[in-house]
Amino acid sequence: MTAPRHAIPVTLRRATSADAPTLLAWRREPSAARFQPLRDRPLDALRHELEIDGAKPIDAAFDGSGRFIVVAGGEDAGWVTLQRVDRDDRTASVGYTIAERFRARGIATAAVRAVIDIAFGPLGIERLGAVAAVENIASRRVLERSGFRFEGIARGLLVIAGERVDHATYGLLVTDHRPFLNAIASQE
Ligand SMILES: CC(C)(COP(=O)(O)OP(=O)(O)OC[C@H]1O[C@@H](n2cnc3c(N)ncnc32)[C@H](O)[C@@H]1OP(=O)(O)O)[C@@H](O)C(=O)NCCC(=O)NCCS
Repeated sequence: MTAPRHAIPVTLRRATSADAPTLLAWRREPSAARFQPLRDRPLDALRHELEIDGAKPIDAAFDGSGRFIVVAGGEDAGWVTLQRVDRDDRTASVGYTIAERFRARGIATAAVRAVIDIAFGPLGIERLGAVAAVENIASRRVLERSGFRFEGIARGLLVIAGERVDHATYGLLVTDHRPFLNAIASQE
């Protein structure tokens, strides 16, 4: 496994309530919802969630949604989240979106690798899961290039634009081999 081809410096920072309008704008880009069940969110509700989750330290007790802004070449380029954090089973799932104008430059791959380091590091997670619509080739490549293993097809897993859509499911264990370990700088 190699570094993303078009290497651009990528870091993560914790999303704050001030990021809510930008997050909403990214969520509203037409292609963002093509492969994701993104429902429109009221700005105030998103601000509130970011405030609550953003105040929790990223440590082995964290039990919210870890939302991170992806910063690429000094610009806010998208987001990556750790959701469904389960402290008993030490599991979580990963989600991500890169703004349209920043795509196809290796940014999502770098961001997912960075969030894996946070999950398996300070968060003490031992298994990460992720799903991508079967036809979402770019997203599936991001996961595969980040070390996730394909685990099967979940038929009709999510409803997207009114249709039940089959999803490829992926998993990554902290014990899995990851040649790019610590290759990407990340920060809270
Ligand atoms: C999926 C997404 C996050 C990928 O972001 P990105 O920064 O463009 O991804 P990368 O540049 O790291 O590319 C990852 C791989 O996908 C490939 N790829 C990128 N865009 C592609 C496309 N439109 N079609 C097919 N492959 C594509 C890249 O070539 C790369 O593969 P490679 O490493 O073999 O060269 C982005 O397209 C996106 O935000 N889409 C909308 C939201 C979404 O689908 N999120 C994921 C939900 S599961």
